[in-house]
Amino acid sequence: MKTNKQKINWVLDAGLFAVFLLSFVLDLTGLALHQWLGLFAGVLALLHLVLHWNWVKCVTVRFLGRTTWQARIYYVLDVGIMLGFALILATGVLISSWLSLFLDSYFVWKSVHVAVSIVTLGLVVLKVALHWRWVVSVFHRLLPITAPKVRRVETVPARTAIGRRQFLRMMGIVGAGACVAMVSASRALTDSLAQSSAPADLTALAASLATPLPLTTEPSGVGSNSAVASSPTATPSPSELTQSTPSPSCRVLCPRACSYPGQCRRYIDRNGNGRCDNGECL
Ligand code: HEM
Ligand code: HEM
Repeated sequence: MKTNKQKINWVLDAGLFAVFLLSFVLDLTGLALHQWLGLFAGVLALLHLVLHWNWVKCVTVRFLGRTTWQARIYYVLDVGIMLGFALILATGVLISSWLSLFLDSYFVWKSVHVAVSIVTLGLVVLKVALHWRWVVSVFHRLLPITAPKVRRVETVPARTAIGRRQFLRMMGIVGAGACVAMVSASRALTDSLAQSSAPADLTALAASLATPLPLTTEPSGVGSNSAVASSPTATPSPSELTQSTPSPSCRVLCPRACSYPGQCRRYIDRNGNGRCDNGECL
């Protein structure tokens, strides 16, 4: 019974890790799928937390009293990862094409979103490394054919049968996935930080936190800098279509006004004039 629960936990943990990693490679998924995958990762993380709720309750009560240092370290790490997930999801939804919010400080929020993702991934890799014995032993129970062949099984305790080589193999797989994700996210972060033209964008962030911005502004060109997260492949939302219709008032969504081929995946040119529609007052 307990073994079945462990196996279910293993599959859920592996699924959560895979979905989390996939959320880093936007070039592979595109924005629309990224948003759903990110949300799905949040749901899986919540389920994962519910399955460990008894442990959380126990350690919370005993944190300052009678418990092991190992439990305390796991607890602090889990709280860090939980906060990381919460911040990733909150900033993700804020900059998402679902809300299409008129954010002056779009690139600051995007940088926070990506930076927290990178830090959280680091914590998750550390957590998997700390649980490596559990990960490897349950994996062998799930797929007995992969279990190491030990010569005198009866004299070798199960714990020592799982050795350093198994640890390196597991960390090799986890580390390779994490490296690909980190490289992709680091590039995105560098790009986003460069675009956020720091002082102006940070001032805008402070102002936008103090006062909500209107959804529609007078034509102002570069002044009203925001960005809507839409990929060239994504179907334009009704609000985006409205923005490309000539009107006396308009929203300039991006201050960069890129010409073809643009510098980001949001480049879109429905009127075919060789300039990004997001930077035009149409
Ligand atoms: C990609 C993300 C994550 C991965 C790969 C992961 C992996 C794991 C693994 C392998 C274990 C030990 C085995 C088990 O009993 O399932 C575990 C335990 C646990 N996880 Fe996670 N986890 C992740 C995210 C989270 C998040 C976001 C939270 C909190 C909201 C969380 C809370 C816990 C708790 C409370 C435990 C039990 C205590 C412990 O051993 O640390 N985990 N996780
Ligand atoms: C665990 C979940 C998530 C992770 C690890 C994650 C990670 C990332 C990373 C690394 C990037 C930069 C990718 C690049 O530009 O190459 C990014 C961008 C973005 N993410 Fe997430 N994200 C998650 C969840 C979400 C959610 C739930 C949403 C919205 C509902 C979201 C919305 C966005 C948006 C709008 C961008 C900017 C796209 C652009 O400007 O091109 N993310 N995310």
